[in-house]
Amino acid sequence: MNDHDHPAADLHVPVLLDAVVEHLRPHVGVRALDCTLGMGGHSAALLARGATVVGVDRDGAARALASGRLAGFPGAFALRAGTFADVAEAAVKAGERFDAVLADLGVSSLQLDDRERGFSLKSTVIADMRMDREHGETALALIDRLPESDLADVIYKYGEERLSRRIARALKAARAAGVSTGEELALVIRKVVPGHQPRHPAGRTFQALRIAVNDELGQLERLLAILPDLLTPAGRAAIISFHSLEDRLVKQALRAHAAAGRLGRVANRVVIATQAELDANPRASSAKLRWALKTDDRSAYRKADAADDADDADADAEDAP
Ligand SMILES: C[S@@+](CC[C@H](N)C(=O)[O-])C[C@H]1O[C@@H](n2cnc3c(N)ncnc32)[C@H](O)[C@@H]1O
Repeated sequence: MNDHDHPAADLHVPVLLDAVVEHLRPHVGVRALDCTLGMGGHSAALLARGATVVGVDRDGAARALASGRLAGFPGAFALRAGTFADVAEAAVKAGERFDAVLADLGVSSLQLDDRERGFSLKSTVIADMRMDREHGETALALIDRLPESDLADVIYKYGEERLSRRIARALKAARAAGVSTGEELALVIRKVVPGHQPRHPAGRTFQALRIAVNDELGQLERLLAILPDLLTPAGRAAIISFHSLEDRLVKQALRAHAAAGRLGRVANRVVIATQAELDANPRASSAKLRWALKTDDRSAYRKADAADDADDADADAEDAP
């Protein structure tokens, strides 16, 4: 099977695509940084509208798949391997600036659905959970390394799981007994969480382990800290998050930059999926997009954007507190 034929690529629908296009305004002459290339869905839409794109992913499988999908845009698409925090910091250091910066955070459906990657509650291989399988510590190694109380703190903080202490104790005991797959660990957690729950009771713990293994919040904080420096004078950014821990960081950082005069305008409200998008793509249900403009000076934006300024005025009215 070649990359174009990959079933996940066909099934994948980029989340909040209309909002990404509306807020990043890709067109000929726009140079975009896609911090989270994934399966290349958002990048393909930016490229199709004439933008050039630098795409970043820390996952080699995602890079291979996206490069295959985007091969139809020769010269307009460039790939960078590594974490977006490292790539963005290197870009700022080198004086590189982008007209559009996109981050669609978290794991992709490609990663989640591949049981070999160990993200899934049904995974029958060791609980790995690294987005980049060449570096870092697996979830299993993390469980083994951390003392029980620190493991409980991770589960509480990143999973917002109130039964974190009980779960940490059970995970440590299960590891001592040789339990190692996602499926087995999920079962261990299910046994210590009382009652029947609509969602699998291990979901919050798996989220916590994944966030810790990939330092997801640390990566986001580093990107947010330098976001204004990454943007050209008329640059635009859009960040899509999937849980409250991420969205809180995005909201606070954008507001702090705006207050300090480092960003011109930032979204007061999150953009969420329409009912039509939710019907087509239930994974969009927790997605929240926040946007930012480098400057509030409209004359700084390209003439090509002029027609869109009326939309901005509408957005201003909507955003008014
Ligand atoms: C939600 S998916 C992005 C999907 C993509 N927007 C699309 O349309 O196909 C997130 C992707 O970003 C990558 N990723 C997440 N955090 C990253 C980081 N800190 N640095 C680099 N890549 C990251 C993941 O490996 C995954 O492939």
